[in-house]
Amino acid sequence: MSVQDEIRRLTAPDIRARKGGEPIVSLTSYHAHTARLVDKYCDVILVGDSLGMVMHGLETTVPVTLDMMILQGHAVMRGSKRAMVVVDMPFGSYEASKEQAFISAARVMKETGCGAIKLEGGRRMAETIRFLVERGVPVMGHIGLTPQSINTIGSFRAQGRDEKDWGPIEDDARAVTDAGAFAVVIEAVAEPLARKITKDIAIPTIGIGGSVACDGQILVLEDMIGLSPRVPKFVRRYGELGPSIEAAVKTYAADVRARAFPGPEHVYPMRTKGK
Ligand code: KIV
Repeated sequence: MSVQDEIRRLTAPDIRARKGGEPIVSLTSYHAHTARLVDKYCDVILVGDSLGMVMHGLETTVPVTLDMMILQGHAVMRGSKRAMVVVDMPFGSYEASKEQAFISAARVMKETGCGAIKLEGGRRMAETIRFLVERGVPVMGHIGLTPQSINTIGSFRAQGRDEKDWGPIEDDARAVTDAGAFAVVIEAVAEPLARKITKDIAIPTIGIGGSVACDGQILVLEDMIGLSPRVPKFVRRYGELGPSIEAAVKTYAADVRARAFPGPEHVYPMRTKGK
């Protein structure tokens, strides 16, 4: 057995079992190279539909397609070994019916080899979540701010900041739990509400703009390493890669213009005769 064979990927039941235990560390990744780095430290890698904004410069996640998710999901699977890889279901690939959701999810799982899918919506998606789970598709829920609904909600605004608005969000959390999701992302929800939901439901909550009390945390990698031009309030910048990339590109451009690159060590000499 090779060393590689001995590394077992985390699974949906492993993540589910972390409720109330050691915090679940999660980041997004869309490429093999970043997946390799993230895999060393994270339990869950999310191939988020935020790739539409991060990789393609789109204004929202709405135009992202299933093919885009599958392509990047495959890349992330190739780059990682240990973390559970979850692939987002993009807008329009699962909302029409539970059957449509199963066909899309099955494609994602077969073509990427990922361990689970994520979809947005609470009560309105509960029947679909149950249908998928009963048919062998592990589902991560996503409640609170659901960016795919931007055209009906109007703006990326935090949810539940007035206590009178808590009820529907709590109902969503209970609905995805009862439907069989193994974990749920809680995005941009007032801190005391995210804390309360974490205490009340039986599955792990993964916060992004939630609460430190959530069972895990997730951020978009490019936001936290300083590559995204604008970031939401809930992002802590753990690196500033933008300026280092710019400095490298600037130096490269100057070297090329000055014919200082490539150097002798970067070019191929002719073979010495007889060798
Ligand atoms: O698409 C994404 O990156 C996400 C996270 C922000 C949770 O859904």
